[in-house]
Amino acid sequence: MGAFLDTVPTSGIIRVRDLMYSVDKPFRLDQGDVSFDAPDSLKSALKAAVDANQTHYLQTAGLPRLQELLTEKLRTKNLIPVVSPDEVMITNGGVHALYLACQALVEPGDEVLVPDPIWPQMFSALVAAHAVPVRVPLRERLGWRFDFDELASRVTSGTRGLYINSPHNPTGGMLTQSDLARVADIAASHNLWVISDEAYEDVVFDGRKHLSLASLPGMHDRTVSVFTFSKTYAITGLRLGYLVANDPKIQDRVRKLLGLTTNNVSSVVQFGGIGALEGSQEVIAQFCVELQSRRDLFCAGAAEVSNGALSAPPPPGAFYAFLRIADDWAAPLTSTSSSRSWAMVEHLIGRGRIGCVPGVDFGPAGENHVRFCFARSRAELEGALESMREVFRS
Ligand SMILES: Cc1ncc(COP(=O)(O)O)c(C=O)c1O
Repeated sequence: MGAFLDTVPTSGIIRVRDLMYSVDKPFRLDQGDVSFDAPDSLKSALKAAVDANQTHYLQTAGLPRLQELLTEKLRTKNLIPVVSPDEVMITNGGVHALYLACQALVEPGDEVLVPDPIWPQMFSALVAAHAVPVRVPLRERLGWRFDFDELASRVTSGTRGLYINSPHNPTGGMLTQSDLARVADIAASHNLWVISDEAYEDVVFDGRKHLSLASLPGMHDRTVSVFTFSKTYAITGLRLGYLVANDPKIQDRVRKLLGLTTNNVSSVVQFGGIGALEGSQEVIAQFCVELQSRRDLFCAGAAEVSNGALSAPPPPGAFYAFLRIADDWAAPLTSTSSSRSWAMVEHLIGRGRIGCVPGVDFGPAGENHVRFCFARSRAELEGALESMREVFRS
């Protein structure tokens, strides 16, 4: 693994982060983090756990009470037929759950179909598990959804699984009920595993409803579903996520890996998670309403201040604007990058102090786009738009 790890790609997001450190008073729209505060229900349960000295080792797969509450949530909200809390395993955020899912599911050389664009950390997690991610483009004209005939045509005798992520990072696209039925059909007819990354399950707009693949008949048996508290309760730094699988072999492998990688996820954070689930869930809807206004503010604002150089319809979910670079935008002559999305990002960071991520970093299908996170505060979004106005005026 030592030398092999040298070949696992790292994300250009890191390069952007390094560029941002050299910027005075930056607008950090590059980071996929929310500006909200965590709910009091979560914070007081976490503080109470500290005061009660709940600082010792725990069960490897998580606190039983947390597993029970999540089992109930998965059954009633996600309509996933979870039978036993043992199916729910607590992880150090969604990123850890995805890493464990990859390690537990694939053999070296197995092909896994993935969307292009894709969140780079997931691509790398597959490579780190010695799998071969096979990029299948999401089609912008279809609202960044698969062409499902194309997806089916990419299955080979070496395909072991597929990865879906709805709502999607970076495009904000969402799969519909009939899309999920197509995924289920492809998976069942080729005997594939599916990793369903539902990190943004609670960030859906305009009255839409998030749907879980594992709620479809028979799909819980072949799906590893991944969720996180990061975005739902605004606790990206506390690190709390979970993985759901009903296959005993996968459960054993994941528990073994949990033992090796964390022993248990932070005790007090898990108590905080219990507090969040036992408390009012109204905060989720409140976050969503506010994010929808910020989405509308940013998407309309960016198109206006850039004179159409950056635009896209408002996304149905997640909190990213994946804006298309107009065909007639000419990269500055000083640009050293052959990629238009990198050239635009360097321009916006260098001239406007606006952090953003080049679409090509998420895969070839993301070229000519730039990702902006609109979950930042309104003041930061408005500052970024004003700065963008100046950049495009000059
Ligand atoms: C698509 C996707 N999946 C999973 C995650 C995991 O988030 P966390 O590790 O904070 O739970 C993220 C975070 O940005 C994401 O964008």
